[in-house]
Amino acid sequence: MALFKKKAEEMPQFDVLPAHVAIIMDGNGRWAKKRGLPRTAGHVTGAKVFRTIVKHCEARGVGYVTVYAFSTENWKRPPEEVQAIMNLLRDYLKESLRDFKKENIRVRFLGDRAPLAEDIRDLIEEAEKSTADKDGMCLNIALNYGGRHELTAAMREMAKKVQAGELSPDDITEEIISQHLYTAGQPDPDLIVRPSGEHRLSNYLIWQAAYAEYVFMDDILWPDFTTADMDAALAEYARRNRRFGGV
Ligand code: FPP
Repeated sequence: MALFKKKAEEMPQFDVLPAHVAIIMDGNGRWAKKRGLPRTAGHVTGAKVFRTIVKHCEARGVGYVTVYAFSTENWKRPPEEVQAIMNLLRDYLKESLRDFKKENIRVRFLGDRAPLAEDIRDLIEEAEKSTADKDGMCLNIALNYGGRHELTAAMREMAKKVQAGELSPDDITEEIISQHLYTAGQPDPDLIVRPSGEHRLSNYLIWQAAYAEYVFMDDILWPDFTTADMDAALAEYARRNRRFGGV
């Protein structure tokens, strides 16, 4: 922790820092294939890089970091790969329950928990509960997350409230919709970073990303992603001229 703080002090500060950075940790499979390794080896290294980058963002002063760990579509992968990702999450959660006590990070999970293994659901709840009062960076882990799934659930929830007479259709505003999403109360992502050459959103934060800036880093796969790459993305963001539809 102290190490990261020290490094942050040594680093040049950016003029404009995104309040919320969302990352698509892409390219694990290709990274492994290039080395003749099983795809799961890419996820193992990817999970290590995830830890480093989260700490780096915290040291930089980013308020919210969201990572895409597992999408609603990722169940289509071979069962052994799904299992490997779940095991990495399980390990991370167990480790975090120790580490988060020392750190000032609030952890939140975005996504549908119902299909997850019971022990993972318990670990998630414990991690959220034990970090709820932290006032440092918020780390969102998107797990069994899909933007359309999230919006569908929000619409269903609002429809139920209308049916129960708790909400008038005329009162449904963008703000009310945002309040029914997993990210309720959080700022929308300012910056979305995707390495590995794919230029798409892949059902990630589709409502929240309306005015996000995208930084695609084509020449790098997630397991090779470094703190210098993160700084390059932050520097690129600082150069952007955000107009939000104005002039
Ligand atoms: C995308 O690369 C990566 C994933 C779908 C899984 C990401 C999971 C981790 C980094 C590990 C677990 C996470 C935590 C938070 C501990 P890909 O497999 O689609 O790569 P490819 O496009 O090269 O095949």
